[in-house]
Amino acid sequence: MTQHLTVVNHPLVQHKLTLMRDKNTPTAVFRQLLREISHLLAYEVTRELPMTMEEIETPLKTMQAPVLDGRKLALVSILRAGNGLLDGMLDLIPSARVGFVGLYRDEETLRPVQYYCKLPGELADRLVIAVDPMLATGNSSVAAIDLLKKAGATNIRFMCLLAAPEGVARMKEAHPDVPVVTAALDEKLNDKGYIVPGLGDAGDRMYGTK
Ligand code: URA
Repeated sequence: MTQHLTVVNHPLVQHKLTLMRDKNTPTAVFRQLLREISHLLAYEVTRELPMTMEEIETPLKTMQAPVLDGRKLALVSILRAGNGLLDGMLDLIPSARVGFVGLYRDEETLRPVQYYCKLPGELADRLVIAVDPMLATGNSSVAAIDLLKKAGATNIRFMCLLAAPEGVARMKEAHPDVPVVTAALDEKLNDKGYIVPGLGDAGDRMYGTK
């Protein structure tokens, strides 16, 4: 991917996103919609995966047919809301390797602190797709990508549902080599770091917590 930011404004994505933003949408429907949008975003984020030709036999003849080339992809969920996008990605790419990064915000320094990190091996040889529905301040996304790079990843993409201009700018500054794919670029962050108009707390809406 050459562009830093791709907004997937496909009508199905935009329609489903509107349903997700609506505060009256119930938890189970919200989670299902996130999974469905994840399929559509995955289509975009994997568009330029390398292919190779393999010989197969159809019932009629032998042919050279395209298959994905190279090592299996790595999907990395930024806990906990990343798991909603991860589930949809795994529907489409079931053999992908999966990693998890957990970060919390230190209330004094306001910096993200890692509490969990489990990543697949050989990251340097894989396309790594990090997923988190909300690119808000960008602090946790930038920290997660720092971790992936420290673990050897060099080919990374970031997939989210909503992005704030502040988060996109922060990612571009810290990781200009990491393309961002999102369903929408919203107006701004509020003083609590929520995306406006947004959809609220993605984790709470996915899992029914408050
Ligand atoms: N995380 C969320 O879940 N929602 C926001 O609006 C911002 C960060």
